[in-house]
Amino acid sequence: MSNSLGFLLILTLITGAESITTISKVAVKVGTSISIPCLYQPKYRGHVKYLCKGYYFSSCQYAIKTHSPENQEYSISDDKSQNIFNVTIKESTAEGSYYWCAVEIDNGGDVRKYFHLSFTRDKSSLYVTDQMVTGFIGENTTITCYYRAKGNIDWCKLGRTCIKDGLIDGITVNTDKKKDSFSVTMSGLRAGNSGWYYCVNGDLQMPIYLTVTIRPTVESTTVTAATESATIEDQKEDQKTKEDRTFPALLSLIIPLVSLILVAIVALLVLFRTKRAKIQDSSGSSNLKEGEVTYSEVSFKKNQALPVESDGDVTYSSVVIKKPQGGKRAKAKDDNETHSHHKQNV
Ligand SMILES: *[C@@H]1O[C@H](CO)[C@@H](O)[C@H](O)[C@H]1NC(C)=O
Ligand SMILES: *[C@@H]1O[C@H](CO)[C@@H](O)[C@H](O)[C@H]1NC(C)=O
Repeated sequence: MSNSLGFLLILTLITGAESITTISKVAVKVGTSISIPCLYQPKYRGHVKYLCKGYYFSSCQYAIKTHSPENQEYSISDDKSQNIFNVTIKESTAEGSYYWCAVEIDNGGDVRKYFHLSFTRDKSSLYVTDQMVTGFIGENTTITCYYRAKGNIDWCKLGRTCIKDGLIDGITVNTDKKKDSFSVTMSGLRAGNSGWYYCVNGDLQMPIYLTVTIRPTVESTTVTAATESATIEDQKEDQKTKEDRTFPALLSLIIPLVSLILVAIVALLVLFRTKRAKIQDSSGSSNLKEGEVTYSEVSFKKNQALPVESDGDVTYSSVVIKKPQGGKRAKAKDDNETHSHHKQNV
């Protein structure tokens, strides 16, 4: 007896079956998704992990790889700090199958371990309401597994131990077995108790991930809220300061622009008057003179000046067109122009 056990142990060591640890059999209701943890040795941290579907590993089909961790039916994530990768089989209506958790090895046989997934029409013979459970440091957490099949029940940490003497990882674990459920209460939780666990019922297992964090206290929540609102105020203040800064920046743009326009208008006015004077002087002469050349250059630059050629009043209306370009100054200028306009008309 002890000989055969020793033989089994040696066989296990030779085949490297301990390279990956996972659950062996899980059943879920059709249409629900299930996450399965695969624990690997730390030396494989940098390797590619994948899930392969098929009875024989040699002929299995890739389901998902950590290269591209998401597709229609599966997703995979590798928690390198815990040496566990997690494969999720999404709301599938697929038939039950064998799957392989595997680690890619260059120039060698990939390390792998299989599990069997089956689907049930109704609730599975072993299920939990949520695979993700959160507990708080120093407190107790109770996890309930619902079971239907006969056979032993157990609560285990993946890759570690099942309940022994009411303890797992040094913390107290109490089970409360009822007719169709059993509850596991873990007391005095520590951050180190975070991880993958599983319920056992007969040959079925159901993985559960426990996250242990600090409970957010009421005071700290209020403080956080206050800080947040303060932050929002700060942001508003920031925004205002930015606006205040933007305004002078805008002004510094508008002022030269308006000055430029003013200069252009004054130049146009002066040139136009010179031209009119010249026209009056030469009374229709078509001879090109120096002054006229200068004028035509300017009118070329400013096409608003084009209609000017016939009448003086038109010049001022072209000034009015520029009105929307400026702020207060432009308006002030407009007033002045209107004023001079009147003067001119008189
Ligand atoms: C397992 O994978 C699922 C889907 O990718 C993800 O939502 C979940 O958080 C993972 N769980 C852990 C413990 O990494
Ligand atoms: C947590 O569990 C311990 C041991 O089982 C128990 O003595 C204690 O009262 C529990 N605390 C709470 C808050 O339920």
